[in-house]
Amino acid sequence: MFAEQAGIDLTYERIEAQADGFADCVHHLRARGFRGVNVTLPFKEDALRVASNATPRALRAGAANTLTIDGQRIEADNTDGAGLLRDLAENLGKTIAGCHILLLGAGGAARGVLQPLLDANPAGVVIANRTQERAMALAALGDARVHAMPIGQAGERAFDLIINATSASLQGSALPVPAACFHGKSLAYDMMYGAQPTGFMRQAAARGVRVADGLGMLVEQAAEAFFGWHGVRPATAPVILALRRALTA
Ligand code: ATR
Repeated sequence: MFAEQAGIDLTYERIEAQADGFADCVHHLRARGFRGVNVTLPFKEDALRVASNATPRALRAGAANTLTIDGQRIEADNTDGAGLLRDLAENLGKTIAGCHILLLGAGGAARGVLQPLLDANPAGVVIANRTQERAMALAALGDARVHAMPIGQAGERAFDLIINATSASLQGSALPVPAACFHGKSLAYDMMYGAQPTGFMRQAAARGVRVADGLGMLVEQAAEAFFGWHGVRPATAPVILALRRALTA
């Protein structure tokens, strides 16, 4: 859809790599003349490893979702954080500056968005994770605005933005987010998306909180990758709308 907008004629294919065959897959794509790859789970760390160089934001995230192939050179980038920030700012009208943020999860998805969130000048970020040690490790990266907290204790204050970066909803599990974490103007954001709202989204909605899923982030991270490849920033709103319609059809 982005290419159609820009009048660019390209081939875009969905390819499933073998669990231990990601590098082979990328080399095969290079041999076929492909110039770029959008990479999703569980291959984002492999994508960083296969690259000959990486952007600072991919190195910081320890993972890549975008590869650019130029002859023998493969560059890794990570547009997830930029995609989230753009979705929050442009599509949802959420200002991050001065925000108190609760980030749920301490895996790859949380790590990928932490620094981009900090770059947008929040008042603070509390990381809460099922396994407290992982939250502490992520919070120990050296920014005084970041703290780790057991999820049960996170309710000692309310947050302006609560981001679910766990994969709990994939297993259909609810997250024990204390009701006191939400206030009337909170935004509850789930990085997952699907036909149905996640357990986290239903829980937040039941508390009267504004809720968003990660479909906008999906489209925005792709737009950022497309911009890197083609130098054209696509209009994302019509694409988000079309995907939403397709998801709920
Ligand atoms: P990703 O790259 O998608 O972040 P990951 O590195 O496996 O994947 O991390 C998954 C995250 O979801 C982790 O924060 C994980 O918590 P743990 O560190 O305690 O494993 C969290 N998670 C997964 N399933 C969960 C569940 N059922 N309840 C709460 N948190 C869950």
